[in-house]
Formats: sequence, structure tokens, C-alpha cells
Amino acid sequence: MFSAYEDLLRPLLFLVDPEKIHEYTLHALSVGSSLPLFGRKAQDLQLRREVFGLSFPNPVGLAAGFDKNGIAIPALAALGFGSVEIGTVTASAQPGNPKPRMFRVPEAEAIINRLGFNNRGAAAMAERLQTLRQSPRWPAIPVGINIGKSRVVPLENAVEDYRKSLRSLREHGDYFVLNVSSPNTPGLRSLQDPAALGPLCATLRLELAQKPLLLKIAPDLTWKEVDDILRIAEPSGISGIIATNTTIDHSNIPTSRRTEGGLSGTPLRDRSYEILKYIKTRSRLPVISVGGIMNVTDALARFDAGADLIQLYTGFIYRGPGIIGQICRALRESGEHFS
Ligand SMILES: Cc1cc2nc3c(=O)[nH]c(=O)nc-3n(C[C@H](O)[C@H](O)[C@H](O)COP(=O)(O)O)c2cc1C
Repeated sequence: MFSAYEDLLRPLLFLVDPEKIHEYTLHALSVGSSLPLFGRKAQDLQLRREVFGLSFPNPVGLAAGFDKNGIAIPALAALGFGSVEIGTVTASAQPGNPKPRMFRVPEAEAIINRLGFNNRGAAAMAERLQTLRQSPRWPAIPVGINIGKSRVVPLENAVEDYRKSLRSLREHGDYFVLNVSSPNTPGLRSLQDPAALGPLCATLRLELAQKPLLLKIAPDLTWKEVDDILRIAEPSGISGIIATNTTIDHSNIPTSRRTEGGLSGTPLRDRSYEILKYIKTRSRLPVISVGGIMNVTDALARFDAGADLIQLYTGFIYRGPGIIGQICRALRESGEHFS
């Protein structure tokens, strides 16, 4: 079937360097966000979900990394997302890794990135969100803030660094995510080890009062490592798991396309699905499933496997904003996913 995005717009967008076109698109969405065009949308009660104490108008969210600085929230909400997760933000502003650092793999419907948490820092984000929250443009959807470790801070000071970000931002987000799973900050993923994760979760939980704190995990963990995380997460007051981040396993794409960084999109689909199913058999924690959801079938499979919510990144790039409405329509038609 003809798709204006996939058949006309995407071929043009894909002529431009991936990071450049991302910047242009985000800039356009940010300009759109500053206009009084985006009022609060009519809500479809059939798609509404209550998860970790928040109300989501629909269960299809935008994953972290698209709007790292939180500059386009109203426009992203207007596209139909039921939640937007901004960040990853770090305590200090940082430039990220040298460019080029973002690559498309169109034949596999995938992206590889090694951006390395390029962002303007927690204080700048807090200022922006404070202004936005006081304006009529703040959207009627939950806004999550994904927090990572500043690159210059050694791992042994990670707790203090996450705490600093959380203190600047805790008034401004509806939920918070500890990102301990990006492959692009050296050593970050070792924070998933029980000895590091326990104190990190417990300390940060105390900073947040009642607001939900989630953990975003890597797809490259062993089942034993997933078990260890689940064992620690629940008693530490973690409200849910986001599974998963990008993978360092590039075996699903042609050798010539492999380059350092995290792989997302279709090659991640099966692993992300497996991890969702595994967590759902082991824990009662809500799960936001993300990774390789590229169409309606993928999305419905996640809900069938028990996902409480889903998020998109690469599917949004390859299919365009229309994918949000397609998934919502399919969910409406198959009411069983919302019993
Ligand atoms: C270009 C790019 C940048 C990303 N940046 C972040 C980030 O800053 N923080 C984060 O937690 N995840 C980040 N991610 C991971 C996504 O949020 C998501 O977990 C992953 O891409 C799997 O979903 P997908 O297959 O739908 O893309 C990024 C992904 C991409 C493609």
C-alpha cells in the first residue's frame, strides 16, 4: 500500500546524513512546539492505561534519545504519542563522541549509533521544562526523563552524578529512568551489576518521593543477569523496567555494515521480545517494551506477551509518525489487549 512517508518523504530524508536530518527534524518540531498550534488532544478512553500510578492516553510512547534535550515535547505529543521520554540527560553538558556517530542500515531497517549522550545538561533541561510546564503548551501525556552518567565522572562517583541530575529535574518529569544500559559510555553497563545497582537504586529512590523510577536495561544481558536485576529492582522501589536499549550484537547485519555502537530496529526485535517474555514470567513489575517494534504486528505481539506500554524509536524513523495511529487503531479493533 502507498505510504506518503515511506514512498515520498523517507527517500528524501535518507539522502541526508542521519544526524544532520535528525537535527533539522527536531529543530522543525521544536519551532512547531513553540507555536500555539498544539492544544490538548481529545482522548480515546479505550486506549487509556494506568501504569505505575500514571495515566497514559495510549500505550505507544517515544523512546529516549530522539529528543535528548526536551525541546520538542508539545509537537511530539501532537503526533499522537501517549508519552514522551526525553534524554538521556547528564549532570553536565557534554558533546558526545566524535562524528560521524549515527548510521543507517536500510537493508536491515536498522540504525547504529555511538552518540555518547550528547546533551546540554540537566540544569538547562530543568530551566526549559519549568517554563514549558507553566505554559498551556505542556501536553496532557506523561513526560519521562531518562538520566545517564556524565562521561567525565568516574564510575565510583556515579551515584552522586545521577543524584545531581535527579535533584535538578525531579520537579519537572512525571517519571524518571536510570539509564544503565547505553553501550556508548565506557563502563556504564557495569552499573547493572548487583553490587553497583543496589546502592544506586536505593539512593536515587530516596530523592524522588513518590514519583516512579524505572530502570532501562540492555538486551545483551544473560538470563542470570536479568534475574539479578529483578531481584534488586523490586525491593529497591523501582517502579518498572524498560527493556531494552540498543544491542552490541551485530551478528544480524552484514559484516560490511558493522561499526562500533548500539544497534536498533529490526535486528533487535527478537531479543527484545524474548527479554520482555522472560521478565513477565519472573516479575510483577510493569515493563515498557522497546526494541525493533517496526509495525502493528510487532506491537500487538508485545502486548500479547504482557507489555504494559511500548516505545518506538527506529520504527518511527523508518515508518514515520503514521505508525503511532496504525498501532492505536489496531489496538482499538482488538479490544482484548485492554481488558
Ligand atoms: C540514534 C539513537 C539514539 C539513542 N539515544 C538513547 C539515549 O540517549 N538514551 C537511551 O536510553 N536510549 C537511547 N536510544 C535507544 C532507544 O531509546 C531504544 O531503546 C532502542 O533504539 C531500541 O528501540 P528501537 O529498536 O525502536 O529503536 C537511542 C537509539 C537511537 C537509534
